[in-house]
Amino acid sequence: MKVAAFNGSARKNGNTSMMIQYIFAELEKAGIDTEEIQLAGEHPHGCIACYQCFKKKNEKCIVDVDCINSCIEKMVEADAIILASPTYFADISPEMKALIDRAGMVARANNDMFKRKIGAAVVARRRGGAIHAFDSMNHLFTISQMIIVGSSYWNIGIGREKGEFADDTEGVATMQDLGKNMAWLLNKLNIPAA
Ligand SMILES: Cc1cc2nc3c(=O)[nH]c(=O)nc-3n(C[C@H](O)[C@H](O)[C@H](O)COP(=O)(O)O)c2cc1C
Repeated sequence: MKVAAFNGSARKNGNTSMMIQYIFAELEKAGIDTEEIQLAGEHPHGCIACYQCFKKKNEKCIVDVDCINSCIEKMVEADAIILASPTYFADISPEMKALIDRAGMVARANNDMFKRKIGAAVVARRRGGAIHAFDSMNHLFTISQMIIVGSSYWNIGIGREKGEFADDTEGVATMQDLGKNMAWLLNKLNIPAA
């Protein structure tokens, strides 16, 4: 079983990454493979609305100039997908938006490729707007026929400078509970090894 987490932060190894690592620690305790894909520095292009994915139906985006097709492959391979973004002006980062628009469109063009995979959204924030960002990412899961896992609070972590999330005790517990719930569900579904 494998969980792939896509980190939409524009900076590597910040609070969003730290939140993912708390989830991963619980998954790894349960013997589940994990991979974090950081979009920082990748500058993924937005969707160009060409609808070629619906014509070609080859599980790829025709804009093959960046990391998005590799992300789509990792999403297809994973049993569970975590979308994680910092809050930028009360919404997700442009990197995360590019991933959602392009992967989401390719998945829909190819018979709902993410159908019945498990999904969870995670948001880092300094102060406001995290619920809106959380909502933005959950839209991909709900339109893709995916199963959303929850935690003991909404999946939000507090911090501004890199590493500050470690001081958010409730946020850390929320990530740990999310990891435990995701592991529980993956084991219940008893997904065979690929
Ligand atoms: C362009 C930009 C916009 C931001 N807008 C918000 C915001 O609307 N609300 C908020 O709480 N924090 C905002 N922040 C702060 C980040 O969400 C916060 O620092 C977060 O921990 C960054 O995650 P990272 O360490 O993974 O990059 C913003 C940061 C940047 C760079």
